Amino acid sequence: MRSADARHVPDSPGSWLLTATDLAVTPAEHGVLAAAFHADTRLDTCMPPGDDYRHRAYQCFALSVAERDLRIVPDPPPYWQSTEVNPLVGGIERRFALIPGEHPATAVVAKIIGGVAELLRTAGVLDARRTPRCLVDAHYIRILAPGEPAPEGIHRDGLLAGSAHLIARENITGGVSEIYDPPVDPASQPKLLRRFTLTEPLDSYAFDDERVLHYAGPIAAQAPGRTAYRDVLLIGFRPA
Ligand SMILES: [Fe+2]
Repeated sequence: MRSADARHVPDSPGSWLLTATDLAVTPAEHGVLAAAFHADTRLDTCMPPGDDYRHRAYQCFALSVAERDLRIVPDPPPYWQSTEVNPLVGGIERRFALIPGEHPATAVVAKIIGGVAELLRTAGVLDARRTPRCLVDAHYIRILAPGEPAPEGIHRDGLLAGSAHLIARENITGGVSEIYDPPVDPASQPKLLRRFTLTEPLDSYAFDDERVLHYAGPIAAQAPGRTAYRDVLLIGFRPA
């Protein structure tokens, strides 16, 4: 992970930086995820016309926070966000290419979700009394360069919490991650809390979506004419 202020900034409430070691993800398990991004992501047809740089796949899990029980939801409902949190594609029911539970990536994603859930539980963001049951969305997102990992700008996801896990950076520059304090009033700007770049496989961050905003900057091809993309696994926790 490359960062001016990475993981030792004391005053950065509401977000946490993690590595493959923290999540106990092996190189072989990373390889399973990387293969899924190659084989199973499809063009995101919900994007505005002409924005054909985002490919994705999806899984949904049900989490019992108290019992630490996580299982795949085989036939999940459509994904929906309000227009308030996602002015670009909010307010519509979105369906994405579904990765079946029997796919080998499922176990790796479940392990990652388990690690992040434990962190969030320890931090008090996930609370068995407040939200005993959660739905956990896993978005496999490939952004082709030039492209925007966060076309909605500095935002929150409208969830309890989330996390982002780098799977691959292939021939790209940019994709800098940022975490912000929300503005105290509509006239003020969000305050930057930390800025870093996920560079190594499974470099990750988790965030309290009710506490902070997040953003990832645009990517561009480093060597023109060659395939260039950024693969990131996005996890979201919402009340069931
Ligand atoms: Fe987001």
